[in-house]
Amino acid sequence: MNIIDENIQRYAEQHTSPESDLLKKINRDTHAKVSMPRMLSGHLQGRVLSMISAMIRPQRILEIGTYTGYSALCLAEGLATGGKLVTIDINEELETKVRSSFNDAGIADQIDFRVGDAISIIPTLNDTFDLIFIDADKENYSRYFDLVIDKVREGGIILADNVLWSGKVIQDKPDKDTRAIIEFNRKIQADQRVENVLLPIRDGILMIRKVSL
Ligand SMILES: C[S@@+](CC[C@H](N)C(=O)[O-])C[C@H]1O[C@@H](n2cnc3c(N)ncnc32)[C@H](O)[C@@H]1O
Repeated sequence: MNIIDENIQRYAEQHTSPESDLLKKINRDTHAKVSMPRMLSGHLQGRVLSMISAMIRPQRILEIGTYTGYSALCLAEGLATGGKLVTIDINEELETKVRSSFNDAGIADQIDFRVGDAISIIPTLNDTFDLIFIDADKENYSRYFDLVIDKVREGGIILADNVLWSGKVIQDKPDKDTRAIIEFNRKIQADQRVENVLLPIRDGILMIRKVSL
């Protein structure tokens, strides 16, 4: 199921600031050469991530699920001076390509790219984050939230992607990934430490603000 009507999506993109040439190239290359290009955030969502980051001006960003680096570069656009983005991905096959894109962006020194399982890497991070983007394997979304919530400052924002899962969250007989997303959405809705709003952008972004420690 397309969440947004195709024509509305096109109109929204036409009235959204364009991607940089580098982001366009990553988008094109990912679609031409990498499997599952649908995972890439893309133009509209990328600009949303960049805009949210620019509003927060974070010192520290954590991204779980780098893929080809598109969303990391969008989020990094909002970093404060001297800020840093940590991004984690388990897929070592994409490492060279991703590092090369971070170099091309001229901000490799602001990006700490970790290759490995986020479940084991997150507990080793000692930073306090202003902004976190959860966009890795769906079955671990609830675990990722539990691992990061104490590492977010009060007032900090967690964004979780694909929370509408192509509309499957409201269909009968959910599969394993859908059940995990449904459980995650339910868990956040019930958590007194956060306020949340589900934005029906692309595949759904749950925007979560930590209101108490
Ligand atoms: C949807 S893609 C990320 C897309 C990217 N954020 C973007 O918008 O361009 C999900 C990524 O999560 C990674 N991933 C899956 N399980 C993981 C894990 N346990 N730890 C770290 N990364 C994982 C996959 O290798 C994949 O590249």
